[in-house]
Amino acid sequence: MTDWRQVFEATYAAPPSRVQDRVWREVFGDEYPEGVDPYSYVTASELRRFAADLAVTRGETLVDLGCGRGGAGLWVALATGASLTGLDIAEAALEAARDRARRLGIEATFTRGTFEATGLPGGAADAVMSVDALLFTPDKGAAFQELRRILRPGGRLCITSWDYHTQPAGRPPQVPDHRPLAEAAGFRVLAYDDTERWRELQESTGERLLQAAAEVAEEEGISVAEARAGIEEMHATLATMIRRFFLVAEAT
Ligand SMILES: C[S@@+](CC[C@H](N)C(=O)[O-])C[C@H]1O[C@@H](n2cnc3c(N)ncnc32)[C@H](O)[C@@H]1O
Repeated sequence: MTDWRQVFEATYAAPPSRVQDRVWREVFGDEYPEGVDPYSYVTASELRRFAADLAVTRGETLVDLGCGRGGAGLWVALATGASLTGLDIAEAALEAARDRARRLGIEATFTRGTFEATGLPGGAADAVMSVDALLFTPDKGAAFQELRRILRPGGRLCITSWDYHTQPAGRPPQVPDHRPLAEAAGFRVLAYDDTERWRELQESTGERLLQAAAEVAEEEGISVAEARAGIEEMHATLATMIRRFFLVAEAT
C-alpha cells in the first residue's frame, strides 16, 4: 500500500515545479490562480466561490484540510478576514505554508492533522474548506464524521474532490457519490456541482506534461521513462472519474 504521507513529504520537500506551473498557466489561462502556488486543479473562480459559499466572516475560524502549501486557504482568509488553521499530513507542506503566511503578513496556524483525526476540539471551526485532498483519505465516511464534529452547528463545509465509477489503481478507496456520506454525518447538502470544464482541464494538463516529460525528468532528477510512467499513471485515473465536484454543505 502507498504511504501517502511519504509521497507528499517528498513532493513538498522540493520547491513548486516550474514545469507544472508553466503547464497549469497555459491550460488554465485567465483561470490560473495567480500567487497561490496550488498543487491542485483549483481555479480563480473556484477560490472566489469558496470565499462566498463558506459564509465565514472576519475573526471567525476557517479550517483548510489538506492545505498543502497553504495558498488556497490563505487566499480565502485574506478575502474574508477569517482566521485560518491549515491542516495537512505532510510537515514539509506545513513549513512551506507557514513561510507563505509570514511573507504575506497573515497570522495563521498550520499543524499536522488528517481528515480522520484533525486534533481540533469539537465545534472549533466556523467553516471548513478542502481543495482536491479528500480523495487521499481511505475512509470518506469517517472523514465527514470528523468534519461534522469540528464544525459548529450552521457552519459551512466546501470541498472539491472527485466521484469515481471504478476504483483507480494505486489510490485509496473511492466512492461514486459523496452526498450520502455527508448527509449520514449530519450535513445538509446545499450544492453539489460539476466544476467547470474539469475533464478538459485535466486532459490538457496530462497531455502537456507528457510532452514535457524530459523537462519533468530533469527537474526531479529521474529518467524520462520514469517521468512518463508517473504522468501516465496519474493521467489514467481520469478514465475512472465521474466528476470533479464542488460540495457546499451546512452542519445541522
Ligand atoms: C492535491 S494536494 C492539494 C493541496 C492543496 N489543497 C492545494 O490546493 O494546493 C492534496 C493534499 O492532501 C494532503 N493529504 C493527503 N492525505 C491526507 C489526509 N489523510 N488528511 C489530510 N491531508 C491529506 C496531501 O499532503 C496534500 O497536501
